[in-house]
Amino acid sequence: MDIILKNALVAHEDQPVRAADIAIEGERIAAVEPGITAEAGETIDCGGRLVSGPLIDPHVHLDAVLTANLEPNVSGTLHEGIANWAKQKKIRDLESVKARARQAIDWEIAQGAGFIRTHADTSDEGQLSMRALLEVKDEVSDRVDLQIVAFPQDGIHSHPGGPELFVRALDMGPDVIGGIPHNEATREAGVASLKLIFDEAEKRGLLIDAHCDEVDDPNSRFTEVMAHETYYRGMQGRVTASHCAAMHSYANAYAFRLFGWLERGGLNVIANPFDNLILLAREDTYPKRRAMTRVKELWQAGITVGIGHDSIMDPWYPLGRGDMVQAASLTLHVCQMSGMAEIDACFDMVTWKNAEILALEDYGVAPGCRADLAVFDAASKADVLRINPACTHVFKRGKLVAATTPASRTVMGQSVDLTLGN
Ligand code: FE2
Repeated sequence: MDIILKNALVAHEDQPVRAADIAIEGERIAAVEPGITAEAGETIDCGGRLVSGPLIDPHVHLDAVLTANLEPNVSGTLHEGIANWAKQKKIRDLESVKARARQAIDWEIAQGAGFIRTHADTSDEGQLSMRALLEVKDEVSDRVDLQIVAFPQDGIHSHPGGPELFVRALDMGPDVIGGIPHNEATREAGVASLKLIFDEAEKRGLLIDAHCDEVDDPNSRFTEVMAHETYYRGMQGRVTASHCAAMHSYANAYAFRLFGWLERGGLNVIANPFDNLILLAREDTYPKRRAMTRVKELWQAGITVGIGHDSIMDPWYPLGRGDMVQAASLTLHVCQMSGMAEIDACFDMVTWKNAEILALEDYGVAPGCRADLAVFDAASKADVLRINPACTHVFKRGKLVAATTPASRTVMGQSVDLTLGN
């Protein structure tokens, strides 16, 4: 064996967390069982820490990260963010976009991420976002796997030449096709954009992940179009609707009818709590909507739900540090998922549920899985959410790529441990 992780608490999918050692050979997990005695090149004592597949950020805009201070968003609104982004796109250059993306990627890895799906804005003729992120994808492939979504921020069918511009971006080789139907000029243009996206995905064999109904308007109903197209074309599991914030404001009768089509279509949903909570429902006084999709009810209905970070210090959201546990914790609170099984479900959403959305194979902590692992300084999924602990080790394909020393706390000179000592 190359590496043996001793005294781990293993979290694999929905199986109960159990004590075991983990043996790694090459890029794969060879064994997960108690008391492994085989010789190993390196042995690491996990000391009863939780070991799971790495965190996954399935929705972030790496072409815009770390730009919040370049043109501060004074009002904090979506509209000012869009205006600032348009200004930045005129003056940015390839190397600075790449440098900021790499920095944010390293922040995410240091906190336990092993896979990232990023959107790349395809709305400019020069395709600077696509070029930058395709290069970054190769440059960081030793430490993280990136999926690139071709994302038409300004819409596809609302501008002359828009479809042709978007198809040219698809020819550059993204992994996933994006969209933004609610941002098209009319309902008809939004539906037409989705038809094009599905046609191209079928033709090219690509996954789909569209921003969908990221508004407070209960009349924004493109998620139903995505669910039906997914069902009708037999693309179950390969299509994701991101945000779906309007679902918060749908009448219950419509929302639960929609759930049936989401289930039938096998359409995945990604919630993005940081941006949605900050940017949406701004016109509300009180009561003020939470502007989040119905994570708990979708999860209860058996629909695959994931959680994304979306923004890290960009024109829309000035905060954030690339911490997917924080994103899960925020979802837990906003969606009132405080039952014990619900807390575990929030951890699952940023690990193996996000892996399902990214269509990853061999993800997890079982023999034969790829040795992509994260070791958390906590003893349970719930404690990861409660403490937001250091991620002490992150492995990518059997290699240690990130390490963090847990904080040392004392009161009156005595050590204080935030766990209950289990
Ligand atoms: Fe987004």
